[in-house]
Amino acid sequence: MHIKEQLEALRSATLRDIDQISDEQSLEELRIAVFGRKGALTNALKELGAVDPAERPVIGALANTVKQDLQAALDSKKQSFSVNTSVAAVHTDVTQPGKRQLLGTIHPIAQVIQEVKSVFSSLGFVHEEGPEVEWDYYNFEALNLPKHHPARDTQASFYFTEEMLLRTQTSPVQVRVMEKQEPPVRMYSIGKCYRRDYDLTHTPMFHQFEGLVIDKHITMSDLKGILTYAMRALFGEKTQVRFRPHHFPFTEPSIEPDVTCSICWGKGCRTCKYSGWVEMGGAGMVSPHVLRKVGYDPYALSGFAFGFGIERPVMIKYRLNDMRLLFENDIRFLQQFT
Ligand code: PHE
Repeated sequence: MHIKEQLEALRSATLRDIDQISDEQSLEELRIAVFGRKGALTNALKELGAVDPAERPVIGALANTVKQDLQAALDSKKQSFSVNTSVAAVHTDVTQPGKRQLLGTIHPIAQVIQEVKSVFSSLGFVHEEGPEVEWDYYNFEALNLPKHHPARDTQASFYFTEEMLLRTQTSPVQVRVMEKQEPPVRMYSIGKCYRRDYDLTHTPMFHQFEGLVIDKHITMSDLKGILTYAMRALFGEKTQVRFRPHHFPFTEPSIEPDVTCSICWGKGCRTCKYSGWVEMGGAGMVSPHVLRKVGYDPYALSGFAFGFGIERPVMIKYRLNDMRLLFENDIRFLQQFT
């Protein structure tokens, strides 16, 4: 056979062999059989010396391409083995759909707490905290709710002992702050409260925010101004605020602020029981009895306080019909709040 045909036959036979090989060991054996010291290609190249000098450049060039082609085919086959090996080693099925990363979301209660905080801190109110396990004295007594006062019945409480309970409201923080500091006071507090209630609109644990301002010459118009401003900042500029007379033992006079229902904007719907208004909490001018209890002079000072629930606005904002959803920790529910 002429050397030219020999080279071409070697190329096609070797390429076919490479193609059929399925393990690295056989590939290496084939490489030696072709490129080794006594390999087929090596032998063929040795014969180049005997070629007619006129044909030599053409044959030489062919020999080179055959060599390069075979080398490239061997290399790429070898690489295909190394890819397969690493895939097998990590047991990954690259055809499987990917796993979605679960990102957390901020709980709707925490979102509203953040909003309330930013409104009151921008008004210069100082953030204060009080204990959730509270003395009867701070939760009731100092708030002008003596033992056996009938108003205690409205706050079904969890008692540990006669004197210690889970706070039913954030109002005890008022007393603690006034006890530890001289007036003027301008503080707010947000936290968990506890009452023995459990239905569509009550959970045994819930949140309140409380505000207290004490200074000389503080009047009911200051209270109305602050609350109107805060409610508009929280619920939107269109919000109207109205004040109904009410009774709390620790404020005198007392009021209950309502805001325009932000679902129907006053037209009347199920959420506002067709009144157009939603009840927000309680407020009033701090009772002289409370001021006296903490050692403040009720003739020289006056002030106002307010206490609102957090869950109610959350339920309105997200149109929830069951407050208990907020505390079931069901991620299908919680993921809806981004
Ligand atoms: N603490 C009262 C409640 O839980 C609300 C309130 C706070 C009323 C401050 C007046 C002043 O119902």
